[in-house]
Amino acid sequence: MFQQLDIADSVRRQLSHATTPEHKADFGQFLTPATVARFMASMFPPSAVQTCRLLDAGAGVGSLSCALLDRWAAGGLGFDFESVEVTAYELDDKLREHLQRHLAAYPHVTSHIIAGDYIELATANGLHDRGYTHVILNPPYKKIHSKSAQRLALRSVGIETVNLYSAFVALAVGETMQGGQIVAIIPRSFCNGPYYRPSGTGPYGVSQLYGGGCVLSQL
Ligand SMILES: C[S@@+](CC[C@H](N)C(=O)[O-])C[C@H]1O[C@@H](n2cnc3c(N)ncnc32)[C@H](O)[C@@H]1O
Repeated sequence: MFQQLDIADSVRRQLSHATTPEHKADFGQFLTPATVARFMASMFPPSAVQTCRLLDAGAGVGSLSCALLDRWAAGGLGFDFESVEVTAYELDDKLREHLQRHLAAYPHVTSHIIAGDYIELATANGLHDRGYTHVILNPPYKKIHSKSAQRLALRSVGIETVNLYSAFVALAVGETMQGGQIVAIIPRSFCNGPYYRPSGTGPYGVSQLYGGGCVLSQL
């Protein structure tokens, strides 16, 4: 069966060859292969919500959103949504046009593609529950400098961390509605640290753990 994720994956492969290692390192950019994206989408438990409100922060070319949307489009796999609203943040101008095109291919999906820094935008007016029912993340892997604007923005909402990936997860937890589900690729060491109980964001528990990926569920 035709899946939009396959198209996104062929774009991912072309970009992987065409992008310099320096550019990848600058953006903490390691785009997820289709097999991993599909596996991540399969980790969400069945959901009876009518409108899926999906967050994909640091969305790249949209592979993770496509994996969830393909699971929904295939039917019979536990997603009974009537519609899906995707909010996808991406900092790299070079990836956004692909992201836009890949998500626009789905009927009954409203996409909000946001150009800019997720950390800056998510903290601009305090950290709020934005009603996301589902979050799918492969966040950027990079250190945050101690005096950077990102570090100060995170501190303004009570998050202290030195890694972009843990900042993305902490912000996503804060923006997700009660009972929401987050599937993220994160290092195993995340679960040893204080990160996944960031102050003010409510308790989450890890309900499944596979290699580097996990599902966070509200307790
Ligand atoms: C590890 S890649 C994963 C991309 C995509 N989620 C996937 O799985 O293929 C992280 C992405 O986050 C983007 N990014 C890096 N810093 C960001 C920021 N501060 N705000 C939004 N996007 C960012 C990068 O350009 C990159 O596309």
